[in-house]
Amino acid sequence: MSLDKNTQIGVIGAGTMGTGIAQVASTFGHKVVLYDPYSDQLNSSKSGLEKILNRQVEKERMTQSEVDSILERIVFTDNLSTLSGSGFLIEAIVEDLEIKKEVFQKVEEILEDDAILATNTSSLSIASISSALKRPERFLGVHFFNPAPLMKLVEIIPGISTDEAVTVSARSLIDTWQKVTVRAKDTPGFIVNRVARPFYGEALRIYEEGVADAATIDWAMKELGGFKMGPFELMDLIGHDVNYKVTESVFKEFYYDPRFKPSFAQKRLVESGRLGKKTNLGFYDYRDGAKNPEPVKDAVLGEKILHRILAMLINEAVDAVFMNVASIEDVDLAMTNGVNYPMGLLKWADELGPSRVLDWMSALQVEYREDRYRPNPLLKQKVRRGENFYE
Ligand code: NAI
Repeated sequence: MSLDKNTQIGVIGAGTMGTGIAQVASTFGHKVVLYDPYSDQLNSSKSGLEKILNRQVEKERMTQSEVDSILERIVFTDNLSTLSGSGFLIEAIVEDLEIKKEVFQKVEEILEDDAILATNTSSLSIASISSALKRPERFLGVHFFNPAPLMKLVEIIPGISTDEAVTVSARSLIDTWQKVTVRAKDTPGFIVNRVARPFYGEALRIYEEGVADAATIDWAMKELGGFKMGPFELMDLIGHDVNYKVTESVFKEFYYDPRFKPSFAQKRLVESGRLGKKTNLGFYDYRDGAKNPEPVKDAVLGEKILHRILAMLINEAVDAVFMNVASIEDVDLAMTNGVNYPMGLLKWADELGPSRVLDWMSALQVEYREDRYRPNPLLKQKVRRGENFYE
């Protein structure tokens, strides 16, 4: 079955991601069946979506009739069999391997043999979920970012058994939803959640060493680096429980590679319940009238911080290319569209000159003698050959 505008889209899980994905597919004219076994979850999904869309009418970004037809095209159901007839199914339920496997087994019985099944998992491998399926060749990962209607990026992740035609078909369809699709190998964190780790991890390390406080590190990354948010503000926004869990999962999945080592500072925040903005306390204090420290706006210190975090980020982006996780272009597209970095990291490496980045990494490695700071072999090769990443 080829996927097109007439394909019915099935979405499992009416939470944050499932509701957002259903909105996207319906906006592009598909009939959508959104299934969740919990009726209260379905109700809040529906009312939440109505609220978001009505606001679009108020802001004159959409007409009432457009909004009405988007809502009419979505069927909210707690009956799994309503998913039958879906040519493309996206699962966005709790991040639990056993529950996901069970749901896929049930839904595979309901759908046609040629339907394409996909998971929106962030941290489980596509291979592990596919083991439950009778037709693993028709299954892949499609990783949307939150909020799905606003974030352009979708990582397309074929598993070990996925048919190439299935990957191409799913990617082409999602391209028609005006998304930026990138292809990633089925490895921990795919592209974004792997390459972005040093943005948090190295910032935390600098903070733990006492080189600078959170406000100063955030200032350096924003003012000197051009990032929209600093690492500490961003971790406070994401929630330390969520951010720490991703770091810990990537660290474990990489067989405890020191590049991904989680930090005690963040662990203590989680343990104490200071989860960030949602609890009014994280690295910053969000309570009414709270005073937060001012950054030390010292350009020399700021550059030192920026170069250290940026070198680690670029080294990680280079590793994703070196290990064939994704192409140079796709790594850059992923970071600019998935986490809104001001520039693709490999383009950034070219602008700085790969030899400068290697110098920064080598200086860290000499200073610390830790494996965490080992420069990537591909970075060294590029410098040796006098080449850039882009021609
Ligand atoms: P959520 O907690 O908002 O929603 C999960 C939904 O799954 C709930 O509506 C729940 O009722 C439903 N559910 C639970 N058990 C179910 C079952 N047996 N059958 C059907 N539905 C069931 O979770 P969220 O944040 O939407 O995440 C869903 C998936 O998307 C996870 O795999 C997560 O890793 C992934 N993801 C999450 C992102 C995020 O920023 N929240 C970003 C990208 C991916």
